[in-house]
Amino acid sequence: MAKKEIRIKIYPDSKIASKIFAESLVDEINEILNKKKYCLISLPTGNTPIDLFNEIIELYKKKKITFKNIYFFNLDEFYPISKDDAQSYNYYLYEKLFSHIDMPKKNISMLNGTLKEKDITSHCLSFENKIEKLGGLDIQVLGIGQNGHIGFNEPGSLRDSITRKVKISDNSLSIISSEFKDNVKVPREALTMGVKTILSCDKIFLLAWGKNKSTIIEKTIKSKITKNIPATYLKTHNDVTFILDKHSSLKI
Ligand code: PGA
Repeated sequence: MAKKEIRIKIYPDSKIASKIFAESLVDEINEILNKKKYCLISLPTGNTPIDLFNEIIELYKKKKITFKNIYFFNLDEFYPISKDDAQSYNYYLYEKLFSHIDMPKKNISMLNGTLKEKDITSHCLSFENKIEKLGGLDIQVLGIGQNGHIGFNEPGSLRDSITRKVKISDNSLSIISSEFKDNVKVPREALTMGVKTILSCDKIFLLAWGKNKSTIIEKTIKSKITKNIPATYLKTHNDVTFILDKHSSLKI
């Protein structure tokens, strides 16, 4: 696997980083929409993109962007989980982003945590096929887990993995458990876009804030490409930018 350079941008704090990144993301999307009919994007969930979503909503309100020709593919979802469960990424994305912008519902492709086991493989394949049919992902924004996961591609995930059901690692489970409300059972599995799917995207951005992410950012940047740190696969892509704050970049 050929190693490429990851671009790194460091900002004083996550609020400033999110604001500047939101503006450049909107510019990038508009540029793409000047050249072709649709733009395909994928955004992460979790704590990292909250300010980004708020900034995107502000830019939408200021008419800097319309989402009418944007297709959205979600990165991951717990399995099993109901779409209305407040812990689901489906619920999260509608609450924090989709209900505030003009993206048509038909443009939104979510991994479905409510399916029966037997229907998962075909669901994941049709998710992949839809991306391909629409011409491929243009922009992928990622967060990173403290164990180096991207989406729910946990340590051990292969470079060639596609969208599939996976086991959530103990490390991720313990972090997620602390975010689930008391007595709510944390799903042990998830559906995730694959590493190959992520790497098929034209441009990739990885956002990381806070001291808790400084060790994994250091490892990702300094380590060789390894399945033990799935984020290191990003070094095989030729257009990856890490957007960091001063805390997450402390050790690089
Ligand atoms: P976080 O999660 O944004 O809540 O830190 C990131 C991730 O696990 O990918």
